[in-house]
Amino acid sequence: MIAATDGARVSITGLGAYVPDRVMTNDELAQLVDTSDEWIVQRTGIRERRIAAPEQAMTDLALPAATQALEQARVDPADIDLLIVATVTPDSMFPTTSALLADQLGARDAAAYDLLAGCTGFVYALAQGYGMVATGLSKRALVVGGDVLSRIVNWRDRSTCVLFGDGAGAVVLERVERGGFIGFELGADGGGGVHLVLPAGGSRLPTSAETVAGEEHFLRMNGPEVFKFATRALVYSAEKVLEGCGRTMDDVDVYVPHQANVRIIDYVAGKLGVPEERVVSNVERYGNTSSGSIPLALVDAIADGRLREGSVVLMTGMGAGLTWGSALMEWTNGRARAAT
Ligand code: ACO
Repeated sequence: MIAATDGARVSITGLGAYVPDRVMTNDELAQLVDTSDEWIVQRTGIRERRIAAPEQAMTDLALPAATQALEQARVDPADIDLLIVATVTPDSMFPTTSALLADQLGARDAAAYDLLAGCTGFVYALAQGYGMVATGLSKRALVVGGDVLSRIVNWRDRSTCVLFGDGAGAVVLERVERGGFIGFELGADGGGGVHLVLPAGGSRLPTSAETVAGEEHFLRMNGPEVFKFATRALVYSAEKVLEGCGRTMDDVDVYVPHQANVRIIDYVAGKLGVPEERVVSNVERYGNTSSGSIPLALVDAIADGRLREGSVVLMTGMGAGLTWGSALMEWTNGRARAAT
């Protein structure tokens, strides 16, 4: 699906992010599995990641991120009428994390649901939020992306446990006078889904003593296949959204790819011809935080002064499903909000 936005101007008017305090270094991982700081840095670019405290679930990561986004947008939680949480690690399948979060925030009028699209979840949720606000079905939407992947990672599997971390981000979406979303591209390929799976716990293979003994409640990934898919999908999706919106990579001021592996980011940036100074990368500090990765990177791009009012931003995600997606927008800093 590719669509250039048509007429209605909708933008991010508030942004927030949260990562747990606990830092886990590569050296600590080397005490759990047969790996080394050198291998992890060389193959992935990751130096450390954040790990949720035992009592923290997805809602606990989402709440501070959402609160920050609402404060920045100067929006009262009671005025949010749509709340989407993109995650593959909800507190539980139901009640949903979005419903729990709406309750904790005091967003009493919000329709709330969780969205499952792997690490692409945040981009999918942005597109949905955009659509709802653009058509007037929602006046103010809160979109959260995040994951507590440490809960579904197999800490005995060195090929996956070194890659992931916990974190969340949130944005408020509202109509604005100028700027905002320019277009989206979203896609999925279930045929390739087998390369990144959480085998047990669903209706195909309910949790049982056997699935636990077989460690099927942990994520499994075919790293080289996902690597190939990631490089292909990130380039394809970026090119498609730009083409669909009549833009080129030269128009993009800030490029925010999914933060999975620095080798993937470097390869894709090279293929797309994006100069290094326009590429946002923080995978070194957080690892792959799934749906949290893009909003966490947006926060960093603002902090380092690259993302400003009027900047054209390209965000591209990819992940389990397999799924991929891009959002192209002109950043608005929350100013010039349209009267509603
Ligand atoms: N430490 C040391 N050695 C390791 C480790 C480790 N942590 N992990 C694997 N190895 C070994 C392998 O066993 C293999 O050894 P062998 O040659 O003796 O068999 C060797 O390293 C090379 O393994 P490869 O899998 O070929 O290593 P590669 O260079 O491809 O890197 C990696 C592996 C980092 C997983 C890479 O394939 C990758 O980044 N894939 C994409 C992962 C990804 O982005 N997933 C998430 C996307 S979706 C989402 O965000 C949820």
